[in-house]
Amino acid sequence: MNEIPLIWVINGPNLNKLGSREVQIYGNKTLTEINQDLSKIAETHSVKLDFFQSNHEGELVDLIHKASSSKVSGFIFNPGAFSHTSIALRDAISTIKNPMFIEVHLSNIYSREKFRHFSYFSDIALGVICGFGYRGYFYGLNYLIECINGSKKT
Ligand code: DQA
Repeated sequence: MNEIPLIWVINGPNLNKLGSREVQIYGNKTLTEINQDLSKIAETHSVKLDFFQSNHEGELVDLIHKASSSKVSGFIFNPGAFSHTSIALRDAISTIKNPMFIEVHLSNIYSREKFRHFSYFSDIALGVICGFGYRGYFYGLNYLIECINGSKKT
């Protein structure tokens, strides 16, 4: 029997505060609720999800180092504020052979402060989704599933 593909959903700093943090920007859903909805999508497509959230850069680096040995097919990554600052996390991803990940932001980072317009991850990601709130995670997951199943059209 084929192994069930594993996808990681990784969230960076302050995303554990979703649902109460700047709700006018990030919405009312908590990270737990988003992750529950992601699990439902995963179930219908027979993929397995593991969820991680950390406020600590080093912890995220250590996690990403484990990706290759954990047989992760791909990951969805919202690096939070580390998007705009972390060469260390970018380098960590670059240790993975052919990293397959989608960068997700709930907010439209391009309509916000100038310092959010640049991300250290966008050019090495498969794609970037921003501005669609919690739905961005769902879109990212659906795309990764298409890639894993080999049904991606373009
Ligand atoms: C964010 C955007 C970042 O600029 C910010 O620091 C975050 C959340 C988003 O999901 O919109 O923490 O990544």
